[in-house]
Amino acid sequence: MDYKQLVATAVADATDGQVTASDIYEKIEVPKTSQNGDLAFPTFILAKQLHAAPQQIAKKLVEKIDTTNFSKVVVVGPYLNFFLDQQQVAQQVLGEVLVEKNHYGDNEDGHDQTVTIDMSSPNIAKPMSMGHLRSTVIGNSIAKLLSKNGYRPIKDNHLGDWGTQFGKLITAYLKWGNEDDVKRDPIHYLVQYYIRFHHEDEQDPTLDEEAREWFKKLEDGDPEAVQLWKWFREVSLQAFNQTYQKLGVSFDTYNGESFYNDALQGVVDTLRKDGLLEKSQGASVVDLSSDNLNPALILKSDGASLYITRDIATAIYRDQTYHPVMNLYVVGSEQTYYFKQLKAVLKKMGLKSAAGLHHIPFGLITVNGKKLSTRHGNIVLLNEVLAESIKLAQAQIAAKNPDLKNKEQVAEEVGVGAVIFGDLKNERIDPIDFNLQEQLKFEGETGPYVQYAHARAESVLKKAHQPLPTKITQLTMTDDAWTIIKMLQNFPATVRRANREFEPSMIAKYALRLAKAFNKYYAHTKILTDDDQLNDRLALVQAVSLVLKEALRLLGVQAPDEM
Ligand code: ARG
Repeated sequence: MDYKQLVATAVADATDGQVTASDIYEKIEVPKTSQNGDLAFPTFILAKQLHAAPQQIAKKLVEKIDTTNFSKVVVVGPYLNFFLDQQQVAQQVLGEVLVEKNHYGDNEDGHDQTVTIDMSSPNIAKPMSMGHLRSTVIGNSIAKLLSKNGYRPIKDNHLGDWGTQFGKLITAYLKWGNEDDVKRDPIHYLVQYYIRFHHEDEQDPTLDEEAREWFKKLEDGDPEAVQLWKWFREVSLQAFNQTYQKLGVSFDTYNGESFYNDALQGVVDTLRKDGLLEKSQGASVVDLSSDNLNPALILKSDGASLYITRDIATAIYRDQTYHPVMNLYVVGSEQTYYFKQLKAVLKKMGLKSAAGLHHIPFGLITVNGKKLSTRHGNIVLLNEVLAESIKLAQAQIAAKNPDLKNKEQVAEEVGVGAVIFGDLKNERIDPIDFNLQEQLKFEGETGPYVQYAHARAESVLKKAHQPLPTKITQLTMTDDAWTIIKMLQNFPATVRRANREFEPSMIAKYALRLAKAFNKYYAHTKILTDDDQLNDRLALVQAVSLVLKEALRLLGVQAPDEM
C-alpha cells in the first residue's frame, strides 16, 4: 500500500477535481517530527491556482477530507498533517512482508525487457584494482535491482584483452620472462615485465619499435604471437575469477574487446557507407560538432582501430543479439566524455538501443590515501584488500564470539561484505578514500553493523522457539515500533527509486537506517517476554530480519544468521 498515494487522493478529492492526485503526489512530505503526523501536504503549492492564502486553503480542505484511511488529519499553519492508523498499517505491512518474504518489494516495472550491463571489464595482464572493484560491485547490485524490478539483466565483462599493450607485453616476456614464474603468479609477473618495459624503453627506443611489430604480428594472426596472447589472457582470467568468486559475482558473458576483431571492418564500412566517416590528417573520424563534441577517432592514420571502434562493434552486437531496452556501462567518471562521443556516434548510425545507452559513472577510489596505477608499480590490489579484510574479520569474531561454529565462513562473509558495503554506501559519483579498519567496525555506517543487526534479529527468533508468525493481531505500538513499520512500508518505493537512478547507495543507506531503528527497538523493548503480544513482536523482528537480508542481497552482501 502506498500511503502517499492515499494522501494525494484524499487531498485531490477534497478539491473537487481542481487538482489531480498525480499533480500533488511528489509534493507530499514526511514531517521532521512524528508529532506532526506521518505525512504532510503543503497547501501553499495550491495558493496560486486556488487564489487563496495557504492557511485558508488548509482550513477549507480539512473540512472536506475523507478521513476513513487516517486516524486524524489536522491543520498546522499552511500544512495538512495526516496521521496514519498505526494498527491498520502495521497489520498490512507486516502481513505483506511475512507472506512475500524475500519477494517483498518485487515489481513488474521492467516487463521482462532485457538490459545489458557492461561491468568490471578489467584489463588482461594487469591486476584488478580497487577501481575495477567499484565497477564490479556497482554493476552487480544494479543487476540485482533490475531483476527485482522485473527486468532481465545481462552482465557482460568487456575485458580489455586487445591493444598495442600486448605488443609490449610479448616483447617484454620474450626478453625477460620466465614460464614457470608466470604459471605460479601470472598477474604479478606479467605486471613486472610491463613495468620493466616502460622503464627500459625510456633509454632504448628500439623496444617500442619491437613492440609495434609484435602487435602487428598479433593482428595478422602470427601463431607465436597469438599463442602468447591467448596464454596471457587465460592465466589472467583465472586470477580474475578467483576474485569474482570471493566477491560472489558472476557474469553472463566475457566478450572482451578482442571478441569484436572480426566485426571492425564492418563498422568502418557502415560508417563510410552512411557518409559519416571523414579524413582528418590521415586518420578517419566521425564529426560530432552537431553534438558539441570533438570528433571521434575511428581509425588512426596507420589504419589501426581504437577503443571506440571496438565499442561501436560491441554496441551493435548487443543490439542485434539481445535487443536491450537499455545498454548500461558501469565505468569510472573519467570516461564520461568518451561515452558521450560513443552515444553520439551510435545515434548517428541509427542504432536502435542508442537512446537507452547510459554511462553509469562512479568516482575515484583511493585506499588509505593511496592512488592506483599500474605503470609505476604503486598499486593496491583488490585481492590483498579482500584477504586483509577477512583477516580483520576473523580477529573481530575470535574476540566477540569465540564459540561460533562456522567461524571461517562467517569471517569471509563479514570481511568481503565490509568491502562491498563500504563501497556501495557512497553515492556512486563521490570519490571514496577506502579505510579498511573503519569499514570493519561493528558500530557505525558499515556492512558488519547491518549484518550484526540481522544476526541479532535471527538470534531473537531462534531463542523464542516459536513457529514463525505470518500475521499480527495487535502490536504494542511504541515510537520505535512505528518507526520500523514505516520504514518497512517504504522498502518497495526505495527499491524502485534505487533502480531508476542506478543508485545502490539508496539501498545501503536504507539498510543502515533500518538496522539502527531495529537496534533501538531491541534496546528499549523486552521482546521475548511471554505475554499475548509476543507473537506480534516476533512478527516485527522477523519482518526486519527478512528485509535487512533482502537489502543486503541486493547489494551482493551475505547475511550470516550468527556472527
Ligand atoms: N577496460 C576498460 C578500463 O579498464 C574499461 C572498459 C569499459 N567498457 C567499455 N565497453 N568501454 O578502463
